Order: sequence, then structure tokens, then C-alpha cells
Amino acid sequence: MDTFIAPTDRADLLRAAVTQAVDFLREGEVVALPTETVYGLAADAMNPSAVARIFEAKERPSFDPLIIHLPHRKRLADVAIVPADIAETVATLIEKFWPGPLTLVLPKADAVPESVTGGLPTVAVRMSSHPVFKAVITSFGGPLAAPSANRFGRISPTSASAVMQELEGRIPLILDAGACAEGLESTILKIIPAEKGKPLFRILRAGPVTKDDLQPYGKVEWANGQPDKKGNIAPPEVPGQLPSHYAPRTPLRLVENPDHFLPEAGKRYALLSYRGDEEDGYLGLAEWEHVHVLSPGSGKLPEAALRLYHALRALDELGVDEIIAEPVPLRDVGVAIMERLRRASYL
Ligand code: TXA
Ligand code: MG
Repeated sequence: MDTFIAPTDRADLLRAAVTQAVDFLREGEVVALPTETVYGLAADAMNPSAVARIFEAKERPSFDPLIIHLPHRKRLADVAIVPADIAETVATLIEKFWPGPLTLVLPKADAVPESVTGGLPTVAVRMSSHPVFKAVITSFGGPLAAPSANRFGRISPTSASAVMQELEGRIPLILDAGACAEGLESTILKIIPAEKGKPLFRILRAGPVTKDDLQPYGKVEWANGQPDKKGNIAPPEVPGQLPSHYAPRTPLRLVENPDHFLPEAGKRYALLSYRGDEEDGYLGLAEWEHVHVLSPGSGKLPEAALRLYHALRALDELGVDEIIAEPVPLRDVGVAIMERLRRASYL
């Protein structure tokens, strides 16, 4: 199959691309679409054979459930059942964070095919704020299942060319809207009702919506599989959060303390640096083959987040023996960056 990239940067091109995408989706095909987090591989969530095409293209194991995207807040009841004891909280979170990078895990509606949820009684739901995604899903008029548009276990794509690298020949169409604004997958949240006071929010996957963002509305805790205060990760609670996720092919090692790194003679190393600052103690540690800086100068975590996957792809192309990653501060979206680096790291 030939894979076409459709540009969307002019009104007429956008219109044509949306029509083409919706035609494919109605036929039960898969299409790669930009979202504000990463590019997704979308299909009609209510059509089991379309959903099967996603798993096939990604080589994704069937137990790993997909995220459903809604065309409108009011369509939540199509795919999920909102229990009365958390209804008010869900309404508040949706009002505050949708459309945007927050995914809610809720009891699933019967109409959702089992293959979407990997047989789980719950479903993961969000609404994308990306204008191109919105245009497609509004015209399609129903929920779209869309995991990240990478092959299973690989780095999520944050550009159309990265999707091409991952899925060329396996899907018919990619809508190109340039780089994704967030650069990391959505925050996944489970809500646990409390007898009194604020509900408990369990973060199943760290993402652009941070602990601080959520704290006004509930008591936030990290699920197993997410970093604790020291950044250590216990075994995951949900399927699909396997330790090998987000890995480049070149071995990557997260080195939390520069004193703990001794270069081996004859080995070629690249450095993934946070600020590219001498003071951080990494630049002088080796004769780096290449240094890739995520947020040059003062160090801004959202900037580092949106560049992370692009950087990992670029470093993977160098053919070095090992990529050494510096840590970033464990606050705000830095928690999500560190979680991805830990999963990508072989140590
Ligand atoms: O930002 C995003 O969320 C992107 C864009 C494309 O929307 N999507 C994305 O999907 O990251 P994916 O398939 O790469 O990750 C989905 C993950 C699963 O691996 C699993 O960890 C979690 O969502 N998940 C899905 N359904 C779940 C459920 N019912 N309970 C718990 N976790 C679930
Ligand atoms: Mg993924």
C-alpha cells in the first residue's frame, strides 16, 4: 500500500485532506492524524474491523487498550458510563481540561467493542484540541479510537515524517499539521470516589496535565508504574505501560548523577542534555559524538517535553554506541519527561 502525506496548511488543502480522511474512516480504514500531544492512528471506534486494522498496522498486542477520542463533550455517554458518585468531578474536569491532553478512565458503555478496551470493563476517553483532529472528527461525527501512530514499543511520532518512518506502507494517509504542541502523550487519570471530601485521582500515566493542575479538584496520587518521590518506578498497573516503551534502537541510559558515568574507551556516545549548561556537569564527561539540547539556556520543561521524542529519533539516527540522557527536574511536566526517559533507559 502507498502511504500519502496530505498537507493542511492552506484552507483548500485542509478541506481536501479532511474529506479524504473521513472517506477512509467511513470505509473502516485507518488514518494518521495530528493531535496536540502526539500523532494518533485513528479508526472508527465503534467498528471492530476498523479497530482491528489499528492493532495490525501497529503490531500492537490485543491486550493493550486504545484511547477513544470524542467529537464533542456531550458525546461522552456514547462510550462511557459516569457513576453518580463521581459525576460532579467528571463534569468539572471535562469543563476545565477538555478539549486537551487529559484522558479519563471510566466504566465502558456496552456499545464499545471489546477489542478497543482489551477486554477491560473500563474505557479511556479524551477530546483533542488540535484544529485538524477536530475538523476530521467533527465531520466524521462519531468517536475515533486513536493510539499513538508508532509501531508497538517504539517512540511516539510528533511529526508527519516520524509517522512515515513508523508506518509507511501500512496505512493509506497521514494528515500533516507540522510538529505537535505538547510532544508527550496525554495524562491518564482514574477517579476514585471518596466517602467525604475530595475524590482521589490516580495518575496512570504522567503527561502534560500535571499534578499541580489537578490538585485543586482532587487528592492526587501516582499509580504503580509511575515515578515515586525519588523517581523510582514500581511495576505497572495498566496494560500497555510496559518498561520497554518509548525506546530508541540505540541503547539509552539515564544517568541521574554525572559522577556515576565513566566513558568506556573506544565507545561512541551522544548526550541528550536538558539545558546544555556546563554547570550541570555532563558536557565535560566525555568526548561526545553529538550533544542534543532539549531546552537551551535557562531550561524550560514544556519546551523540553515538546522536543523530547524528536530528539530521541534524531539521536537514534547517529549510529552511536550509546545515548546518555541527563535528568530533568521532577516537577510539572518534568515528571512525565523523566517517566519516558526511565522507560527508554536500559538501566
Ligand atoms: O495523547 C494521547 O493520549 C495519544 C493521542 C494520539 O491521543 N494517544 C495515546 O494512545 O497515547 P496509546 O495507545 O499510545 O496509549 C494508550 C494507553 C494504553 O497503553 C494504556 O496504558 C492506557 O492508555 N489505557 C487505555 N485504556 C485503558 C483503560 N481502560 N484503563 C487503563 N488504562 C488504559
Ligand atoms: Mg503509545
